[in-house]
Amino acid sequence: MKTTSSFVEMKKNNEKIAMITAYDYPTAKFAENAGVDMILVGDSLGMVVLGYDSTVLVTLDDMIHHSKAARRGAPNTFLVVDMPFATYHGSLDQTLSNAVKIMQQTSAQALKVEGADEVIPVIQRLTSAGIPVVAHLGLLPQSAGVLGGYKVQGKTAAAAEKLIEDAKKCEQAGACAVVLECIPHQLTEKISAALTIPTIGIGAGVTADGQVLVFHDMVKYGTHHIPKFVKEFANIGGPIADGITQYVQEVKHESFPAEQHQFTMKEDQLQQLYG
Ligand code: KIV
Ligand code: NA
Repeated sequence: MKTTSSFVEMKKNNEKIAMITAYDYPTAKFAENAGVDMILVGDSLGMVVLGYDSTVLVTLDDMIHHSKAARRGAPNTFLVVDMPFATYHGSLDQTLSNAVKIMQQTSAQALKVEGADEVIPVIQRLTSAGIPVVAHLGLLPQSAGVLGGYKVQGKTAAAAEKLIEDAKKCEQAGACAVVLECIPHQLTEKISAALTIPTIGIGAGVTADGQVLVFHDMVKYGTHHIPKFVKEFANIGGPIADGITQYVQEVKHESFPAEQHQFTMKEDQLQQLYG
């Protein structure tokens, strides 16, 4: 199992970190078998699995339920779990108790929280309690309402400066890595150079120390809106749709189940049954 120091070491050696989201047993198993370095049980769960139109409705129990399944599929991979909307914005004691609940029930290696400012003390508190924290800067989906939608962040010099400062504060507070979402690649390069801990980009260019993508987006599985920064590495939606359509037709036409899909009672037993 890799550790937080493995990732700092990878950054030092210019070895890129490959991260992907997973929300269930089979996906996590695929990820572990493919040699993914880190799995994220993201609160994108709400959108790509639960069908909500934002991450705001995802609960602590939703995250725990899915993280336990992902953990069973990937027992040997570094697992990061998102703290969902508003579970780390109350008192630090309440935040710690939510964090402990996730850690103890899911055997996660780290938790992820969005933002800097008032979230810096959260990173500090969890880290000092022994919980590794991944920070998340740039586009913050849990704050999409306040940001005015899902837009590229840090495009002006002033906004970029603030993000560089925020990233440094996250590192100083103890964060073990920083996810950078939807920012210009030049800014990603600056932030990555300013930190010892790795940056993991999504829509943040090739200059990040690692990359993360949402599983359902990169294999085209049931997603409707695919962001510009996603590459289609597979298209499993098409074959799934075709398979189900064919199943329905075969059931209607009695061509499924065929001989080899059914069980047969022996002739003598049949005789006894009917007398
Ligand atoms: O929830 C999620 O999938 C995430 C990634 C976009 C980083 O936070
Ligand atoms: Na998330």
